[in-house]
Amino acid sequence: MDFDLSEEQELIRATARGLAEREIAPIAAELDEHARWPDEIVTRMAELGLMGVAVPEVLGGAGMDNLSYVVAMEEISRACASCGVIMSVQNSLVCDPILRFGTEAQKRDVLGPLARGEKIGCFGLSEPGSGSDASAMKTVARRDGDHWVLDGTKNFITSAPRADVAVMFAKTDPAAGHKGISAFLVPMKDQPGLSLGPKEKKLGIRAAWSSGIFMEGARIPAENLLGKEGEGFKVALSTLDGGRIGIAAQALGIAQAALDQAVRYSKERTAFGAPIARLQAIQFMIADMATELDAARLLTWRAARLKDAKVRYTAQASMAKLMASETATRVTHKALQVHGGYGYLADFPLERHYRDARITESYEGTSEIQRLVIAAAVLQG
Ligand code: CAA
Repeated sequence: MDFDLSEEQELIRATARGLAEREIAPIAAELDEHARWPDEIVTRMAELGLMGVAVPEVLGGAGMDNLSYVVAMEEISRACASCGVIMSVQNSLVCDPILRFGTEAQKRDVLGPLARGEKIGCFGLSEPGSGSDASAMKTVARRDGDHWVLDGTKNFITSAPRADVAVMFAKTDPAAGHKGISAFLVPMKDQPGLSLGPKEKKLGIRAAWSSGIFMEGARIPAENLLGKEGEGFKVALSTLDGGRIGIAAQALGIAQAALDQAVRYSKERTAFGAPIARLQAIQFMIADMATELDAARLLTWRAARLKDAKVRYTAQASMAKLMASETATRVTHKALQVHGGYGYLADFPLERHYRDARITESYEGTSEIQRLVIAAAVLQG
C-alpha cells in the first residue's frame, strides 16, 4: 500500500495546518475554558472545503478523497479537538450517509448546504438506554399518510444544539429487531414536536456542544426517509465505519500535539544539570509515544485508503480507531508526566489534550466495541 501523499493531499494538509496554526490554536484554550461553539472557525472550515471534504464538487463538496479528509482532520484536531469533532461529525456522520443513501432531491437540498458548511448536521443514534447496543433503541417512527411521526429520546448528540438537520434513527417495525430500524432526515430548527435538552457539561471537547433530543409526535414528510425502510441499521453501522476513521484521525491530532509539547519541554527544562531530554527515562517515553503514534497513523491511513478503494473496511476502521484512541490516551498521559507538575496546570495546553483524548475511546464505539468488531472479523477468517 502506497503511503505517499499526492500533491492534492499535501495541499489540503498544508491548508488545514495553516488554519489550525494561525486561527485555531490561538483561541483553542479560550474555546475550551468558556465551552464556546467556534462559529468563526466553522465558517473558515466551510470556506476551505473542510465541511464536505469527500463530497463531489458538483454536490457542493471539495471533491477530495478520504485520505485527504484524514490528514486535514489530524491537523485541525492538533490545534483543537472540539473543532475536529465538529468537522468529523459533519463529514463522516452526516454528509457521508446522505451521499451514499440519499435521493437526488436529498443530495441537492440537504447535502449541498451541509457540504458547503452553510448548515450543520448531527447524528441521532444513541439513547439514554442504548449506546453500545445500538439496535436496542426505543425511538419509534409511525407512518401517517404522507408523513412519519417520531417519538423518542436521543442523547449525547454532538452538534445538536447548533444543528439544522439530523440523520436520525428510529424503529419503524419494533418487533423486527435491527431489521425494523429506519433512517430519516429530521429538521432540527422550528420542528414541532422536537426539542433539545440542556447542553451537556463535559470533561473535554467542551467547545463542541452536545445535548439530548426529545421527539414527541414530531411529524416529518414521508420523503425524509433516508435509504430504504428497515435498512437504517446498515445505514448507521456503515456510516460509523467511516466515522471511526475520522475519530482515529482526531486522536492522532491530539496525540501529535501532546508529543510536540513533550519534545519541546524536554529540551527546555533542565534537571540534574542538563535538559531532561538527555535522561533515558524521558527518551524512552518519547520513543514509545512516537512509535505508537506512527503505528496508529499507518492504520488510520490504511483504513482511509480502503474506504477510497470502495472495499469493505469495517475491521480496519475499528483497528485504526482502537489503536489511535488508546494511543492518544497513553501519549497524553506520558506527555503530562514529562511536564512534571506543570503538566497538571491549565496554563499549559497539555491539560486540555489530556482531557480531550479520553472521549476518543468512548464515542463512535467504545474500545470494547472496536475489539468485538475486530474479533468477529478475525474469527470469521
Ligand atoms: N456495515 C454494514 N452493515 C453492518 C455492519 C457494518 N459495519 N456491521 C454489521 N452490519 C449488519 C450485519 O451484517 C447484520 O445484518 P444482517 O442481519 O442482514 O445479517 C446487522 O448489521 C446486525 O449485525 P450484528 O448482529 O453484528 O449487530 P449487533 O446488534 O450485534 O451490533 C455492534 C453490532 C458492533 C455492537 C453495533 O451495535 C455497534 O457498533 N455499536 C456501537 C454503536 C456506536 O458506535 N455508537 C456511536 C454513536 S454515534 C457517536 O458517538 C457520535 C458522536 O458522539 C461524535
